[in-house]
Amino acid sequence: MIKLSEPYFFGSELKHLKKCLETKWISSGGDEVKKFEKKMKKFTSGKYNLATINCTAALQLAVRLLKPKNNDEIIVPTITFVATINSVIYNNCNPIFMDCDDNLMLDKNKFYNYVKKNTFYKKGFTFNKKTKKRILSLIIVNTFGNLFDFDDQFKTFCKKRNIKIIEDSAESLGSFFYDKKKNKGIDFSCYSFNGNKLITSGGGGLISMNNIKDYNLAKHLSSQAKKDATQFIHDDVGFNFRMSNLHAAIGMSQISNLKKVKKKKQKIHNLYRDSINNIKGLFILPNPKYCSSNNWLNILIIDKKKYGLSKNKIIEKFREFNIETRSLWSPNHLQKPFLKFEKYELDKAKKMFERCICIPSSFGLKLSDQKKIIKLLQNKFRK
Ligand SMILES: Cc1ncc(COP(=O)(O)O)c(C=O)c1O
Repeated sequence: MIKLSEPYFFGSELKHLKKCLETKWISSGGDEVKKFEKKMKKFTSGKYNLATINCTAALQLAVRLLKPKNNDEIIVPTITFVATINSVIYNNCNPIFMDCDDNLMLDKNKFYNYVKKNTFYKKGFTFNKKTKKRILSLIIVNTFGNLFDFDDQFKTFCKKRNIKIIEDSAESLGSFFYDKKKNKGIDFSCYSFNGNKLITSGGGGLISMNNIKDYNLAKHLSSQAKKDATQFIHDDVGFNFRMSNLHAAIGMSQISNLKKVKKKKQKIHNLYRDSINNIKGLFILPNPKYCSSNNWLNILIIDKKKYGLSKNKIIEKFREFNIETRSLWSPNHLQKPFLKFEKYELDKAKKMFERCICIPSSFGLKLSDQKKIIKLLQNKFRK
């Protein structure tokens, strides 16, 4: 089977794990975790990094650090992995769903229109005109390795409205803005080291931030909010969210390969783009001009009328050839647990869902396998 996004082991994983086993420190809070957090600073947007069990926990914690009240509202894109939305619900807040644009990012213009038309600003906060609830934050998702364009106008707008920005960077580790200023003004960035990501720790996440107070609170809450660890005195309802030393050891062995992985991913992207964009009715989601993307997954965008095969037919055909592909996420505003929440002018998301699939993009993808995938698309799967 040609897999969609497989982990790759570079050879030093066992050495790091062995070292970790020898110290008998395998759970959270060990040296490997500290080293991992420090080493990640080269790639994260904030000064302070806290490693967590996964990115879902990092996102949950990020929302919690904003000190939400029950039923505060948080704006989210509907096109994202479900964890983005769940992180809002875990905090007893309500999501407001926004549409995506042609690049599968939050539609900025619709966001501006929504805030201008449907909210008001009072006593330092933005409120929803309809529900009268406070809009606390916006979660931006860097889909498939491409970064959302944090331009000055956007940041000023959110700042004026006191809408905090959480960045779901689960998929965009190693991507960066050419203009370094763009990183500024993001309150929390959350990363994932799941097995299918650019580099992995087996399972893991990280929250990156610039405010030491936030970091201290994140550390406290993520390790059971212990005020006095020896007497078991707790001053809050905390979580057991810290990354284990074992996971950090695997993560440590992978970090040094990040540049190599990114380079290969760019090559994979370029070959897909240069060959598939010549096929009538198909094209590859492009890299934005303002950033260097990690090209985590390549997205095939299908015009069924021009190409002659639907998204589902293409997925089925690839399966017949033992090639794993995946649909774009089902828009979250249409999913059962989220039907009751507010949504704003969502028309593009469903269209993109019907047109997009993720195609094999692993670091270890062989050139011959990639050529086979391209050929199948060129020949419309005829043998
Ligand atoms: C956009 C996005 N957010 C959050 C997550 C959750 O990450 P994790 O699996 O580390 O909890 C993922 C993981 O696939 C993701 O793609």
